[in-house]
Amino acid sequence: MNKLRIAFFDAKDYDKESFIRANTNEEFEITYLETRLTLDTARLAEGHDVVCVFVNDDVGAEVIDQLEKMGVKLIALRCAGYNNVDIQHAYGRIHVVRVPAYSPYAVAEHAMALLLTSVRRIHKAYNRTRDFNFSLSGLTGFDLHGKTVGVIGTGKIGRIFMDICRGFGMQVIAYDKFPAADSGITYVSTDEIWRQSDIISLHCPLTDETRHMVNEESIAKMKKGVVILNTSRGALIDSEALLEGIKQRKVGAACLDVYEEESNVFFHDYSNHIVNDDTLARLISMPNVIVTSHQAFLTSEALANIADTTFENVREFMEKEFSTNEICYKCENIANCSRTHEKKCF
Ligand code: NAI
Repeated sequence: MNKLRIAFFDAKDYDKESFIRANTNEEFEITYLETRLTLDTARLAEGHDVVCVFVNDDVGAEVIDQLEKMGVKLIALRCAGYNNVDIQHAYGRIHVVRVPAYSPYAVAEHAMALLLTSVRRIHKAYNRTRDFNFSLSGLTGFDLHGKTVGVIGTGKIGRIFMDICRGFGMQVIAYDKFPAADSGITYVSTDEIWRQSDIISLHCPLTDETRHMVNEESIAKMKKGVVILNTSRGALIDSEALLEGIKQRKVGAACLDVYEEESNVFFHDYSNHIVNDDTLARLISMPNVIVTSHQAFLTSEALANIADTTFENVREFMEKEFSTNEICYKCENIANCSRTHEKKCF
C-alpha cells in the first residue's frame, strides 16, 4: 500500500525532530518544507494527500481552492488556534483537523514566566550581572501576592494560569463569553476586568468579536500601571493603542508572546536586518515590554504531543468514519464545543 504523503509547511528543526521521532517505521512519507504555506507556495503540496500547517501559514480561501484542485484531502493543523484558516470556505472542500491541546501547562507556565520576569525585572538583572554591574537601581518590582489578575478566556490554558495565580496568593477574576457552570470561578464583565485588574491575561481565541479587544477605549478604563499579558493571539490587542498606552504611562508593562503582525517576522532570525515594522521596533525598545516570539507552546512535552496527535488525526481521518479533532464553521463555538464527532463534518 502506498504511504500517505504529507506536505509539512514552515518546518523548523524542533518540528522535524519530534515528527521524525513520532513517525515510527516511517508510516508516513513527509516532505519537510521550510517555507510557509501561501498562495505562492501552495503548489509545493502537489502530489500530497495532507498538508500540515502551523499558526502563521496562510490557509485562506484562495489557498484552499488551490489545495483542493491538487487533490489534497486534509489540512492538519499542528496547533490549537485556527484563525489563519478560512474554515467556512474549507467546508465541503477540504476537511480540517487540529491539535486542540498539547500542553496547556506549557502556555500557562510561560505566561507566568513572563509576568515574573517583567515585575521582578529579571531581564534587566540578567543583562546587568553578565556585565558585572551589581547595582539594584531601577530594579524595584512589586509583590504578586494580593494583586488582582483578570483572566479573559477560562478554557484549558486560562484555568491553569488561574490556578498558578491562586498559588501566588492573587485574587482571580475572569471573563468568558461562555462561563463554565459550577467552576467556582468569579466571573465579571469585561468592563470590570479592565477596571479592577492589576494584571490582565488573555487566553481566549481570536475571532471577529475578540479582535482588538484591548484597544484605546478598554485601555482608558484600566488601572494606571496595569500589566498586560498576551500568550493567545496577537490581534487580540491593537498594538498601536498599546504603544500609546505605554507612552502615556497608563500601561505599566506588557508581556507579549504573540503580536498581530507576527507572521512577517516571528520564527525567523532578523538580527542582521533592518526590521520595517516600526510598531514592533518601538514596543521592543520599551524597558517595560517583553516580547517572546510565539514560544509559549515550546516544551518537549508539547512537541511530542503535537506530533502524536497530528499523526493520530491523519490516521483517524483516513481510516475511520469520524474525526475527533475535526473543526468546521458549523460548530458554532468550537472553542467551547464538547461534541464528540461521530462522523465527519461533511
Ligand atoms: P480553549 O478552547 O480551551 O479556551 C478558550 C476559552 O475562550 C473558552 O473558555 C471559550 O469559551 C473562551 N471564549 C471564546 N470566545 C470568547 C470571547 N468572545 N470572549 C471571551 N472568551 C471567549 O483554548 P485554550 O487551549 O485554553 O487556548 C486559548 C488560546 O491560546 C487559543 O485560542 C490560542 O489562540 C492560544 N494558544 C497560544 C499558544 C502559544 O504558543 N502562545 C499555544 C496554544 C494556544
